[in-house]
Amino acid sequence: MTILVAGGAGYIGSHTCVVLLEAGYDLVVADNLSNSRKETIDRIKKITGKDFVFYKIDLRDVEKVEELFINHHLDGVMHFAGYKAVGESVYKPLDYYYNNLVTTMVLSMACIKHKVNKFIFSSSATVYGNNKVPFVETMDLLPATNPYGESKAMNEKILMDTAKAYPDFSVSILRYFNPIGAHESGLIGELPKGIPNNLMPYITQVAKGKLEKLKIFGNDYPTIDGTGVRDYIHVMDLAEGHVAALEKIRPGIHVYNLGTGQGTSVLQLINTFKEVNGIDIPYEIVGRRAGDIPISYADVSKARKELGWTAKRGLKEMLRDAWNFEKRL
Ligand code: NAD
Ligand code: WQD
Repeated sequence: MTILVAGGAGYIGSHTCVVLLEAGYDLVVADNLSNSRKETIDRIKKITGKDFVFYKIDLRDVEKVEELFINHHLDGVMHFAGYKAVGESVYKPLDYYYNNLVTTMVLSMACIKHKVNKFIFSSSATVYGNNKVPFVETMDLLPATNPYGESKAMNEKILMDTAKAYPDFSVSILRYFNPIGAHESGLIGELPKGIPNNLMPYITQVAKGKLEKLKIFGNDYPTIDGTGVRDYIHVMDLAEGHVAALEKIRPGIHVYNLGTGQGTSVLQLINTFKEVNGIDIPYEIVGRRAGDIPISYADVSKARKELGWTAKRGLKEMLRDAWNFEKRL
């Protein structure tokens, strides 16, 4: 079976390529490298000992995408391509809507035209907004406080209407919680450009001495120690969730949370990082970050029941692997 991995040079896409190749799938990978490096493609091949075709193309380009669908007999598409920096989306809304919506439209139109009926989309827990935890797939989505989050909700709607209109089109929407960690080889991992916005890469860069100290955004939330609580998930578990979703895909549109179901606070994460890696993370408490919610974690029962998937790796493994990747850079 041949799968097009759109955005496969990126953080989550690259780990999913590894799991797909190891599960015996053939891959066609397409990425414009706007937030990734060609080297990652070579490293996926090195880890797996398997080869695949890579196209450096922009997935908004209808002609290039058409060519790709003509040249390869595809069975399914995993769509990871998009911009993901929440803060940047506020001052570059058009870039975010244009990239995140048009890639989905171009890819799904090509799927319909070429009868490629399996489509897996990277959504985000951000669509739940400040709902009551744990977040369940049946909850009403709340408006996002930023264009990035809105683009995910809009993509879900576009795919919902498309799946309704084309009954053979099978769509799985995967709502990721907070992916961290890296492949255990340390060869691939998260490579943010500039100063990281997300907690995990910020911590590993402080550990490395690239950044002086972590700023903790608020310690007055109604949580165990006042700092924000999130459902961190090992990126390899997330990658395995995609293969489970592909294997169980069926007509219609089906939404799954991919998380662990466990909440961890910022301070708990820093303390476990020290315990696992023996490195202290200096920090200061600063004000809350605009748009942050206090607590986010998943109800994971639907993915367990319908996909037969649960996250297997714990927080310690996530923090060990995240550091193992950063220290080799
Ligand atoms: P990433 O930036 O590492 O990967 C995205 C990849 O898509 C990059 O390699 C980038 O070069 C490529 N890309 C972007 N626009 C493109 C275009 N027009 N044409 C071709 N390639 C293009 O991000 P990631 O963390 O791997 O996230 C993958 C997906 O998962 C994204 O859609 C993101 O919004 C979603 N997501 C990520 C997280 C997270 O915390 N990392 C959480 C929830 C959802
Ligand atoms: C985690 C916790 C912060 C940085 C974002 C997106 C979401 C998804 C994942 C794509 C929070 C705190 C952080 C720092 C801190 N991405 N923090 N100091 O905000 O849960 O989710 O990334 O879909 O859509 O919104 O993740 O890693 O930024 O923050 O104290 O320097 O760490 O306040 O409590 P978040 P994060």
